[in-house]
Amino acid sequence: MCGIIGYIGEKRVSGILMNGLKRMEYRGYDSAGLSIIENDRIKTIKKKGKVSELENLVDHSAVSATIGIAHTRWATHGFPNDINAHPHHDNSNSISIVHNGIIENYSSLKTKLKSDGYTFYSDTDTEVLAVFIGSIYEKVKDLESAVRLALREVDGTFGLLVLSTHEPEKIIAARRGSPLLLGVGNNEYLIASDAAAVIQYTKQVIYFNDNEICTISKDGYHIKTIDNEEAAPIIEEIEFDLEHIEKGGFDHFMLKEIFEQPETIFDAFRGRLLIDEGDVKLGGLRTIMESLRDANRIIITACGTSYHSGLVGEYMIESLAGIPVEVEYASEFRYRNPIIGKNDVVFSISQSGETADTLAAVKEAKKKGATVMGIVNVVGSSIARETHGGIYIHAGPEIGVASTKAFTSQITVLSLIALMLGRMKKLSKYEGQLIAKELINIPEKIKQILELTDEIKIIANKYSNARNFLYLGRGYNFPVALEGALKLKEISYIHAEGYPAAEMKHGPIALIDENMPVVVIATKDEIYEKVFSNIEEVRARKGKVITIANIGDEKIRDVSDHVIYIPETIPLLTPLLTVVPLQLLSYYIALNLNCDIDKPRNLAKSVTVE
Ligand code: F6R
Repeated sequence: MCGIIGYIGEKRVSGILMNGLKRMEYRGYDSAGLSIIENDRIKTIKKKGKVSELENLVDHSAVSATIGIAHTRWATHGFPNDINAHPHHDNSNSISIVHNGIIENYSSLKTKLKSDGYTFYSDTDTEVLAVFIGSIYEKVKDLESAVRLALREVDGTFGLLVLSTHEPEKIIAARRGSPLLLGVGNNEYLIASDAAAVIQYTKQVIYFNDNEICTISKDGYHIKTIDNEEAAPIIEEIEFDLEHIEKGGFDHFMLKEIFEQPETIFDAFRGRLLIDEGDVKLGGLRTIMESLRDANRIIITACGTSYHSGLVGEYMIESLAGIPVEVEYASEFRYRNPIIGKNDVVFSISQSGETADTLAAVKEAKKKGATVMGIVNVVGSSIARETHGGIYIHAGPEIGVASTKAFTSQITVLSLIALMLGRMKKLSKYEGQLIAKELINIPEKIKQILELTDEIKIIANKYSNARNFLYLGRGYNFPVALEGALKLKEISYIHAEGYPAAEMKHGPIALIDENMPVVVIATKDEIYEKVFSNIEEVRARKGKVITIANIGDEKIRDVSDHVIYIPETIPLLTPLLTVVPLQLLSYYIALNLNCDIDKPRNLAKSVTVE
């Protein structure tokens, strides 16, 4: 949620920190701040608002420091204001920290520290940690030991950077449950919660494991566990390039990412489809092939957009492989004591790989003895590391807070899993070949849909002032209706609901009048006629109908106010096409409303709190 960065090296630090914050701003944007050491003192600047507000306060020409830490915040404890912004100091103002995560026992620590005479200025759990570390330093007089001893007493999660005038040529970093990596450069090191913040300087990184603590100086780094045992770090290479995290001529990351989908879908199936055999090879599932074949049930857990792709996966796997699938919100899964049988396999889907609810569900399922596989985008992320194995979706960095390309890449990977399981069960080689061949055509068909932008803009212009929207779909397109509604809500703040089209008559139909735009997905499949009847029901109540239909379907014009025509594909793969016009519709409505599309209010890209 928050983004943290630290630098130690030979360059002036302020520009590097600000640059890192800008690259991580999609993770949280209600306040930002930095601390540097200059003339043996800690200098901290912090400000409510976007990173640009902080930038206005930093005079780079006046800063010669070469060590510092910085933070961009998404509030959990305390309102977003200047005081609650990070970094936070200990009472002697000689220790400064930035923190991503939550200190769950902050309240009892604060009470104890107050009774010992310490003072607090903010409402944050992070300040409690800073003061706690400071109180221990007074006794042990060694920064790393103070941090280690403090963290042993802490419940909760942290990605933490500590800077101190006591030992001014060091940064101490520690991780538990929040992402943190060390970028290893030439005579310089960067520590950040996100590879995007370091890639401009180095591609060589070490992903910290939970409960590791690292002391970094200009001359090197030393990683141990919080229990003081030596760790065995591995240097890895970041998979993407700088251009992948820049807008590349688009006005917003979201639009860029929508337009990347022909390539990202291709990257999701590249090297995995065996066209001639009508089959799929997924190396990441190799170790559990037998468990999958014998699975009584597959459970998919995820949140938000990833949950919607899980619902598409349910339809796909049940239809091709005949294995029962249950899809659960990760946040519910953990707390309802789920029953997991010996032959159940759990898949967790997450773009960021850091969503706290999903990570907790993974841990819960593992605790119950399940085999847990990840379907994840961010390489080296917590969920990727916590699961027994899995599949990367290879969508590249997704910076727009509203998820788009990750959704279609997740669905592509789920279609591969469904096809592979189908071939292990009842699906013939011929049927497998048909699906594999059609999947290859999907990127080209998406390119055709992306050419409809002008038409979609006209519809967006007409309905930008609507206060509510309904989205209807059936079968494979029911989860797409949910996703279309979520996209609109997130970035335009218009209330929108998705329903299975036939459910409308059981309640939501009461909402329909001449002011209600209803987006209906009515592609040609076995329930097309039923959806057509549902559209007539909307029309009879004067609702405004925007239909997503297949090219050549002239009949649908008679019952629609607007039709967006898309190419045909097999029903299994329709969500990959039908979601694209819905993404564009949301984008252009939000643009008309002057919304901050890449950083919608109250949202953060990876939700690392439960
Ligand atoms: C929607 C969106 C969120 C995420 C959800 C899960 O556009 O971005 O609903 O899908 O927070 O995030 P991941 O997939 O990172 O676990």
